[in-house]
Amino acid sequence: MSDSRARPALVDVGGGTGNYSAALRELGMRPVVADVDPGMLAVAASKQLPVVRTDAAALPFADRSVDAVLLCSMLHHVPDWAQALAEACRVARPGGRVVLMAFTREHLEVHWIMEYFPETTAHFVDAHQTMDDLTRALPGASATPVRYEDLVDGSMAALCRHPELLLDPDIRRQTSYFDHAETDHPDELAAGVRALDRDLAAGRHPDDEVAEVRDRIGDAVVLTWTAPAS
Ligand SMILES: C[S@@+](CC[C@H](N)C(=O)[O-])C[C@H]1O[C@@H](n2cnc3c(N)ncnc32)[C@H](O)[C@@H]1O
Repeated sequence: MSDSRARPALVDVGGGTGNYSAALRELGMRPVVADVDPGMLAVAASKQLPVVRTDAAALPFADRSVDAVLLCSMLHHVPDWAQALAEACRVARPGGRVVLMAFTREHLEVHWIMEYFPETTAHFVDAHQTMDDLTRALPGASATPVRYEDLVDGSMAALCRHPELLLDPDIRRQTSYFDHAETDHPDELAAGVRALDRDLAAGRHPDDEVAEVRDRIGDAVVLTWTAPAS
């Protein structure tokens, strides 16, 4: 797949509906969206993006064959996440990049809203890797904290900057966290929202309470690993 004369070949693992791939195509790259979910892939394909249905833990690409592998906000969905990272490193050509954007377990502290929903959160915490887990799996990777301020994709990180928005059921429904809460813990969801409403009315500023830790580690991290030259 790699051809130094062509546009860089990139695999967007867990690329979902292809938002990032479409943007990277605009920047001159040649992305393929690789995802397990056929519904997601159908949306990506409707954007004229090449797609492949696959598990991140078993990529159907040759060793050292692509210029870059992107894993954005998806690793916490993958039970065998270490194998998924090993696969990403395997398919990157010498000098190629593996770029991982992740919310680590440490970042969940920044997402203060989860304290209102302990049972829903327990599932989430276990699914998220620690920073240590990730740096051990991508040795030598550089780490860049990132801030999430854009509300368009309804990310939890961005919503936590606007506590009052979390009282709106339509906005909550945009996140998989609240989807899970609504399905599996509806009573906890209702009670947590009531408690948040009360606390905000009483003058609590939960976003300010996490400002120090967020300034230090960001809302999420981007790890960039470069494949060895030989
Ligand atoms: C939160 S979405 C992120 C989508 C996209 N990367 C983004 O940031 O907009 C997580 C994606 O990971 C995919 N996914 C979950 N488990 C996967 C697996 N084992 N292998 C490949 N993709 C997976 C889901 O289908 C979903 O599209």
